[in-house]
Amino acid sequence: MKKGVMVIGLFLAMAVGTIVYNLFQYSGTFTELIIRTCGLFSNLFIFMAIISSEYMLQMRKTFGRSFINVHHQLSRIGIALMLIHPLPFVIQKGVVALIPVFYPPVTFLELAGRPALYIVLIAVLAAVYRKKIPRKWKNIHKLNYLAFLLIFFHAWLVGTDLQSLSMQLIWIVMLLIVAAVFIHKHIFGTRKSKQRK
Ligand code: HEM
Ligand code: HEM
Repeated sequence: MKKGVMVIGLFLAMAVGTIVYNLFQYSGTFTELIIRTCGLFSNLFIFMAIISSEYMLQMRKTFGRSFINVHHQLSRIGIALMLIHPLPFVIQKGVVALIPVFYPPVTFLELAGRPALYIVLIAVLAAVYRKKIPRKWKNIHKLNYLAFLLIFFHAWLVGTDLQSLSMQLIWIVMLLIVAAVFIHKHIFGTRKSKQRK
């Protein structure tokens, strides 16, 4: 566990360094800088919220705080940045910038941040009202994995910073870690609980 947290911590430090380095590499207007900074850091916080779910039980031991406490703080920052990220674009282009486009597939993926925004909000609302929908909320909350995948493609295809090799590497490692968390929880996890039965 400790080794795992150390590796993740090291990776996060590298990710922050790479993001900051790249943000200063490309010139652009102040508004563009806000859009890029909020998009990149929002995804990093969403990533950390997902990773924190892997360490639910050990959270108190490691950080002295419960899982839900840490998970809440990470998701709060992630969501706040996620809502600021498209704002300048929406002010410029109007509400059309918020409407998902489903066809052709490449355009869907380029603009996949739009559906991802709604998916994260739905997944989070399900968690907030989990007492009202005790059976369904966990399945709805899992939509966060889908949102993460959509954000991956959106940023990869339209992001200025995602054109650099260093950012692409960080992006791929993040996707692989999220895939590993999903597989560990839902493929190996279900096998283990079935064996126990
Ligand atoms: C950006 C926001 C968030 C993201 C990306 C996120 C992501 C996740 C993920 C991926 C899991 C693991 C789900 C699984 O594999 O079954 C999880 C678990 C959980 N999340 Fe969130 N979450 C977010 C916000 C929230 C909020 C706001 C709450 C509470 C109000 C919350 C409460 C929980 C709880 C209680 C669990 C543990 C579920 C269990 O017992 O298995 N999450 N979250
Ligand atoms: C209505 C929804 C959205 C709109 C209109 C939108 C718009 C944009 C635009 C115009 C860019 C290109 C910026 C540039 O690099 O010059 C971009 C990139 C990006 N977006 Fe979104 N986006 C939306 C949703 C999201 C969501 C929900 C996330 C989640 C965190 C996200 C994360 C990113 C990331 C990480 C980049 C790459 C930034 C970079 O490479 O510098 N976007 N988005």
